[in-house]
Amino acid sequence: MASVSIRDLKGHVGETVTLSAWLTDKSGKGKIQFLKLRDGTGFVQATVFKGDVTAEVFEAAKRLTQEQAVRLTGEVRADERAPGGVELSVRDLAPYAENSGEYPITPKEHGIEFLLDHRHLWLRHRRPWAVLRVRDSVERAIVDFFHQEGFIRFDAPFFTPNAAEGTTELFEIDLFGEREAYLSQTGQLHAEAGALAFGKVYTFGPTFRAEKSKTRRHLLEFWMVEPEVAPSSHVENMALQERLVSFIVRRVLEECSTELALLGRDLARLRPAAEGNFPRVTYSEALDIIREHIAAGDLPPNVGADVQPVEWGDDLGAPHETILGHHFDRPVIVERYPAAIKAFYMQPDPEDPRLALCDDMIAPEGYGEIIGGSERIHEYELLRARIEHEGLPLSAFEWYLDLRRYGSVPHAGFGMGLERVVAWLTGIDHIREAIPFPRMLTRMSP
Ligand code: 4AD
Ligand code: MG
Repeated sequence: MASVSIRDLKGHVGETVTLSAWLTDKSGKGKIQFLKLRDGTGFVQATVFKGDVTAEVFEAAKRLTQEQAVRLTGEVRADERAPGGVELSVRDLAPYAENSGEYPITPKEHGIEFLLDHRHLWLRHRRPWAVLRVRDSVERAIVDFFHQEGFIRFDAPFFTPNAAEGTTELFEIDLFGEREAYLSQTGQLHAEAGALAFGKVYTFGPTFRAEKSKTRRHLLEFWMVEPEVAPSSHVENMALQERLVSFIVRRVLEECSTELALLGRDLARLRPAAEGNFPRVTYSEALDIIREHIAAGDLPPNVGADVQPVEWGDDLGAPHETILGHHFDRPVIVERYPAAIKAFYMQPDPEDPRLALCDDMIAPEGYGEIIGGSERIHEYELLRARIEHEGLPLSAFEWYLDLRRYGSVPHAGFGMGLERVVAWLTGIDHIREAIPFPRMLTRMSP
């Protein structure tokens, strides 16, 4: 008899099937046992009637404990009230093995630190199941989107010879005392080499930031997708970002209705982003919007009343991004920040050289910055001057300067943080749940 997964049971109503599953919960008395089961593809209830099975099988069902793995044979019955539309009437079952002791995560409420200490087991529960399936859907959407747009995947190294996004957030690696290297903060610089070789490329992989900040939006290790296009412009770059994000939202709405329902996500809050048409404001306009909200006392619930407006020239803080995100019903693109608060490689705005041709995309509902991108400096002398001005070692950037020495063109790209996007789409309040095993100052295990 073929083995069926829970997700496919509804195609087998009336048939007797075999499946392998884990027990999440159990109830019953006398002649009946209700087994709540999961197998990674979904959840289903199985019923064991004393009259349907041998005495040994009924006893085995009664002895099953939480998270024990079991192989069952039973008849699939349609049941409208059941979550997946079906139930299983058990004919036979056998546990794979006995559990050693009581499973630590009981059905009672546990604190988040306890759950994260048991992340290797917590992954089996409904909430991580739903969030990490959405993550998978987003990862596939990213790959499909770039393939469809004619990009090639171009994997950047994790060890890198140079800083790119600020030296204070760099993890230094000691290579046997012989030289130093760093863990990559971004694949961008290598992606630029790829763009000049292949036209349209994207990197997609883990990225490391030595950020001591313990916020809901920061991990030490996170995944970033970084497209880079040559030739390209700031304006084309923003259009690409909007196409990517709206594509991802459409895909998740299509594929993940079960997961989003389980998480209680309000789909009406996501649907506008699926349409595209993301508003665009300049940095200066963003400061005005923020100032007006503060003046009117019109603040989102999680922003304190003591929040101050942003002085021109300062970066937006998390509360400012939250205010801005709440002002719009879909992601907003904030462009042309002051060059002084952005990375050294950004092309100056020809209309106002105090500004950079860059943008951040801010998600709605307080999820903050999900994308940062820019047009890159393509002129050799200017880039060299910026590297020196930043106090970065020129020798580590000679290879990067070669991209401007030979065949330089205006080009642009951006980085999108996977966990930030997944946190927003799933409506969870901390990005640590958007990755299987989060890495933070306060957490290196399991
Ligand atoms: O804005 P960032 O620092 O941009 C870059 O690294 C550019 N080199 C990207 C590029 O142009 N190719 O980071 C990009 C995105 C942010 O918008 C955010 O979504 C995410 O990466 N991010 C983080 N996510 C989780 N934890 C952190 N510590 C993050 N830092 C950035
Ligand atoms: Mg940024």
